[in-house]
Amino acid sequence: MKKKVTKAIFPVAGLGTRFLPATKSIPKEIMTLVDRPLIQYAIDEARAAGIKEFIFVTSRGKGALEDYFDHAPILESSLRKAGKTDLLEILKMTNMESGAIAYIRQHRALGLGHAVWCARRLIGDEPFAVILPDDVIAAETPCLQQMVEAYAETGGNIVAAMEVPAEKTSSYGILDIKEDMGSIISVKGMVEKPAMGDAPSNLAVIGRYILTPDVLESLNRMKTGAAGEIQLTDAIAEVIGTAGNVYGYRFRGQRFDCGSKAGFLQATVAFALARPELRDELMDFLGDITAQQKAAQ
Ligand code: G1P
Repeated sequence: MKKKVTKAIFPVAGLGTRFLPATKSIPKEIMTLVDRPLIQYAIDEARAAGIKEFIFVTSRGKGALEDYFDHAPILESSLRKAGKTDLLEILKMTNMESGAIAYIRQHRALGLGHAVWCARRLIGDEPFAVILPDDVIAAETPCLQQMVEAYAETGGNIVAAMEVPAEKTSSYGILDIKEDMGSIISVKGMVEKPAMGDAPSNLAVIGRYILTPDVLESLNRMKTGAAGEIQLTDAIAEVIGTAGNVYGYRFRGQRFDCGSKAGFLQATVAFALARPELRDELMDFLGDITAQQKAAQ
């Protein structure tokens, strides 16, 4: 019987320099799409997939994240007194059961693989998920849930995958395909950020993973890869064929790269349009502004 995936690692130690000056004093993961911080989308997705333990790998200056998931007794009691039950209900989604959340510091920025390795003692000998909150995925069935369902069939290690244009492959982990079975792809290799022209395919790894503890073993070796960093992609590639199988999973849904300004803005518009109370006004505004831009050209 395959063990259930109940633990997830959220690597949130990055400096978020692409969003300076905002990220000088707020963690990137607290930046909001409409009214929810990026991290809330990641947590909601993890919960929907059955995750019970949430492990944040943080760094200096990320205190606001800890406060965000803490109870806020003064705020809660004033909302209660004012009879604002709807707002109290919204606050509930930020509350974590005692002991369900852990924070680990990554003391040095040595790469994504190293960040995941920092959580090894809390993972132990179980499969686990990794969610990169920069990748926000709008989907009817949340992406990690789709992957947990696929994992029930395949076991092994699964990474979310998506086709990207050839000129973008150097920004991603890229899969070397052994057999393409549609939504599941059996993988024979993985390369982190290959140079233009060296990519084995245009199927890119997106920030959702279900991994076996063998990947942590392989991270133990602390091998550096692309950009001189310890890469998660390399550690997963190392277990192919030895400790287990690796699969890509073509998820159903729309992915936004919220690590870039353009992606963040697109996500903001898409999530706002999905809100009935904002939709009409925003549609009118977008229609007007597009017409004005066209006229000015
Ligand atoms: C990370 C991973 C990369 C993956 C990407 C998805 O890169 O290292 O393999 O394709 O996330 O967003 P980063 O975007 O952090 O440079």
